Amino acid sequence: MTAATIISGKQISEEIRKGIALEVEQLSKQNIRPGLAVVLVGDDPASHVYVRNKEKACQDLGFYSEVHRLAAESSEDEVLALVDKLNAQASIHGILVQLPLPKHIREKAIIDAIAVEKDVDGFHPVNVGNLVIGDDSLLPCTPAGVIEMIKRTGIQIAGKHAVVIGRSNIVGKPVALLLQRENATVTMCHSKTHNMAEIASQADILVVAIGRANMIDASYVKPGAIVIDVGMNRLESGKLAGDVDFESVKEVSGPITPVPGGVGPMTITMLMQNTLLAAKRLNGLN
Ligand code: GUN
Repeated sequence: MTAATIISGKQISEEIRKGIALEVEQLSKQNIRPGLAVVLVGDDPASHVYVRNKEKACQDLGFYSEVHRLAAESSEDEVLALVDKLNAQASIHGILVQLPLPKHIREKAIIDAIAVEKDVDGFHPVNVGNLVIGDDSLLPCTPAGVIEMIKRTGIQIAGKHAVVIGRSNIVGKPVALLLQRENATVTMCHSKTHNMAEIASQADILVVAIGRANMIDASYVKPGAIVIDVGMNRLESGKLAGDVDFESVKEVSGPITPVPGGVGPMTITMLMQNTLLAAKRLNGLN
């Protein structure tokens, strides 16, 4: 069997970002500059890295950006007051509150407070509801990135059997809905699923977001299947590992994403795309 094609999220991201940069240039002629506000509460080290990467993406693409770093002891009311201010601020088109939040702050209260049209994470219940019923909405970034990567393999999604492993609100559930929207036949597996390898190995498209390093080996994969690995697990050695055992799976699979350099870079790119879209819509374009 020939070696599997590697789906490079890094390369696809670069292509999409070129298109975004062109649109930013066009918008600047109408004095519109997409603006993203990121709110980070507390000291979670991984969150600080993610937020720095978002800030850099804004700089690279010519977006306006604000990062609000609040102390871990900040109250829920303080965070809500900041969200209200950003909802009303004309220079801001996208608002992202980095998760997880400290335990004493209710994530739901904060997400519900973000203006639907500025919810570039796609986490607000109205955006989630619109996704479910197939109406236009801001799509959650990682799931939107997953679909974009599958489409760019050139393999048709319609009619295929897609299996999604993991049922989180951030990845598994929305990915399954988006695959269904693309006319795949979708099966969802999760931590309580019996015979998971048997089900997964029937998939033409396998999306894995279960949060367990290297769990999915070749016994879960049908020869030639597309494999998308959303996992980002930090090993004790400090190395980053996906949920898929890449070395064994690539021997049997079709196109497959690596970790790092797969889904990760796509998430930030889709965030930039959402912010651009929100900026256009808030200015009566698109
Ligand atoms: N923390 C980890 N992933 C995400 C994400 O996609 N959005 C937000 N807001 N926080 C996160």
